[in-house]
Amino acid sequence: MTRDIEQRKRDHLKLAQDDALKFSISAGFDRWRFIHNALPEINLSEIDTSTTFLGKPLQFPLLISSMSGGAQESYAFNASLGEAAERVGCALGLGSIRAAMEHEAHRDSFLIAREKAPTVVLLANLGIAQIIYSKGMDNVARFCQDLKADGLIIHLNPLQEAFQPEGDTDFKGALAAIGRWIREFPLPIIVKEVGQGLSTEVVHKLETVGVKTIDIAGAGGSNWISIERERLPQEKLTLKRSAHEFANWGEPTAEVLENLETTSAVIASGGLTAPMDLAKALALGADLGGIAGPLLKPALKANPELVVEELRVWKETLKMVMFGTGISKIEDLIGNHNILKRL
Ligand SMILES: Cc1cc2nc3c(=O)[nH]c(=O)nc-3n(C[C@H](O)[C@H](O)[C@H](O)COP(=O)(O)O)c2cc1C
Repeated sequence: MTRDIEQRKRDHLKLAQDDALKFSISAGFDRWRFIHNALPEINLSEIDTSTTFLGKPLQFPLLISSMSGGAQESYAFNASLGEAAERVGCALGLGSIRAAMEHEAHRDSFLIAREKAPTVVLLANLGIAQIIYSKGMDNVARFCQDLKADGLIIHLNPLQEAFQPEGDTDFKGALAAIGRWIREFPLPIIVKEVGQGLSTEVVHKLETVGVKTIDIAGAGGSNWISIERERLPQEKLTLKRSAHEFANWGEPTAEVLENLETTSAVIASGGLTAPMDLAKALALGADLGGIAGPLLKPALKANPELVVEELRVWKETLKMVMFGTGISKIEDLIGNHNILKRL
């Protein structure tokens, strides 16, 4: 069983790098551009990209979205992400901790991230299947304590599971189970998709059970239906062929943001493929942006410097967008549609 999880993670790390398996539709950020302000009336050196999330400071509003843990190569991977997050001051989401829950030997590949990132906002992660079928939450709470996690992300991934050779496909009772974890789990809960997105209707349903932070994880970047399709064996040809029909299935992140009215804190991830997409996501109303795919290749090189350099470009671009639009504080950028023009 554990070897299955480990092999799956390994497949995922390999296949998620393949551009041919990404969405061919965009997340929609390319439909917007910023209106240039030639009279910004601010001093570049005074621009402040910092913000807070879950009560902790961030140097800029970015989350490294959940990716790895469990497979052997995850140790160096999470060490790189941890070191980079600490150095640039962004938040860090770990991949699903299911492997660590089922086998102690996998714990170090998660714990190393906290060791390398002692001060960052660090989020543990579990799939909804583990939440629905869980008998108790004590083990998860204990491991989150070992991680000094600041919150737990629950990911919703019905179609990923449906096209996965070994998927859990009974989603009955998911909303009620989330409500129970919100009430009883000792840390804040964040609910996300994995790349097919949360529609506005789903976000509103989540709010009815007390969810206060959501991550859209929408369409436009990494595509878990196409990745699982590649893992399906030839005996599952019917399912494999059907998966092709879903190659662009999902809610594009910018489209969700544009229409979302919510009191929840919003993380916009899924298809932020270029650094300027982060600034656009914030102007469209997100409190934080999130990226996974864009960091995958640098993080797999086991050289934190490469991840740091990539993240610095995202931060620098955000600062320059703020200068070019005449905005000096993040709170004045969030939800500021006046500085955007639809193409
Ligand atoms: C290699 C890899 C592994 C992932 N593993 C997880 C996971 O364990 N849990 C989760 O919630 N999301 C997982 N994701 C999904 C990302 O967190 C994110 O929601 C998705 O990839 C969309 O963002 P992107 O377009 O920037 O890649 C993974 C993504 C990648 C690329």
